[in-house]
Amino acid sequence: MTDDIIKVKTIGVLTSGGDSPGMNAAIRAVVRAASTVNLKVYGIKHGYYGLIHEEFTELDTHSVSNIIQRGGTILKSARSEEFRTKEGREKAAKNLKKYNIDALVVIGGDGTFTGGNFLAKEHGFNVVGVPATIDNDIIGTDETIGYDSALNTALEAIDKIRDTADAHERMFLVEVMGRDTGFIALETSIATGAELALLPEELTHVEEVKRQLHDMLKAQRRSSLVVVAEGDETGGAIKLAEKIKDDFSHYDMRVCILGHIQRGGAPTARDRVLASRLGAAAVRVLLEGHSEVMVGVVNNALKITPLRVAISKKKELDHTLIELAKLLR
Ligand code: F6P
Repeated sequence: MTDDIIKVKTIGVLTSGGDSPGMNAAIRAVVRAASTVNLKVYGIKHGYYGLIHEEFTELDTHSVSNIIQRGGTILKSARSEEFRTKEGREKAAKNLKKYNIDALVVIGGDGTFTGGNFLAKEHGFNVVGVPATIDNDIIGTDETIGYDSALNTALEAIDKIRDTADAHERMFLVEVMGRDTGFIALETSIATGAELALLPEELTHVEEVKRQLHDMLKAQRRSSLVVVAEGDETGGAIKLAEKIKDDFSHYDMRVCILGHIQRGGAPTARDRVLASRLGAAAVRVLLEGHSEVMVGVVNNALKITPLRVAISKKKELDHTLIELAKLLR
């Protein structure tokens, strides 16, 4: 809580970084929660790029009708190199002042929060972060907006791959997103009954992977699914296939990269509810005088975490789930 209670009359909202299903539901919640207490809301298009280049558009309760079910973000998203510079942030601050914006709600992941933190520190703006990334790698919230949707998209795809893998008795290396963290890889591997999961959080010994796959084949598995996080130290599914293919030349191996389909599509019910909760909470905590914080949900209760803490480290995988995946394979 800041010493002086913030008098908020006008807020800005933006989405930045990799989009995630549920961002629209969060924008809607911010706008609707703000409208009920007569705050003026500007949507800023293209994230921090739009802040610098004055892409401001006033939003009211009607502007966010019929978007809760849509993937992507009506405000568009971008990664701005210019905003990484002091000069870029000065331009952004000037624009915020020009539009009398007292507070900013930034929806995104750690890069988005780092940008918001700079703005707060260097220019004294009130900033609240709403965690939205399919990677689920933000501390201070049990889940980020978009994670559940991405997980279910990957799950559906891998179930389909299992059908064809089984029909042809093939081995599939399936790559899922997760540059730095293996949340999607770990949970999809459990939910699809994959034979192996390779995660950025764990060392991958290629010889050990080969041994495990050989053991499974000996145990007469009809098909094998290996879920590989894109950030695994082998360098992803294609590189892994290169490294192991000679040992399995008698076995028909295929690689499938799920890629950006995991970022799109309608958000699940859980993501819509989470986004609605967090968007409304962001407005509430701003009115209560908080700034430089992120809102999250932990054990089904709202939690406020300082932005500097939220960006200080990546969320860790639940080690009991890693053990469970190994136990059940
Ligand atoms: O949004 C997070 C993420 O999906 C990562 O898992 C992935 O590595 C990255 O974004 C890819 O982003 P882009 O294609 O936008 O560069």
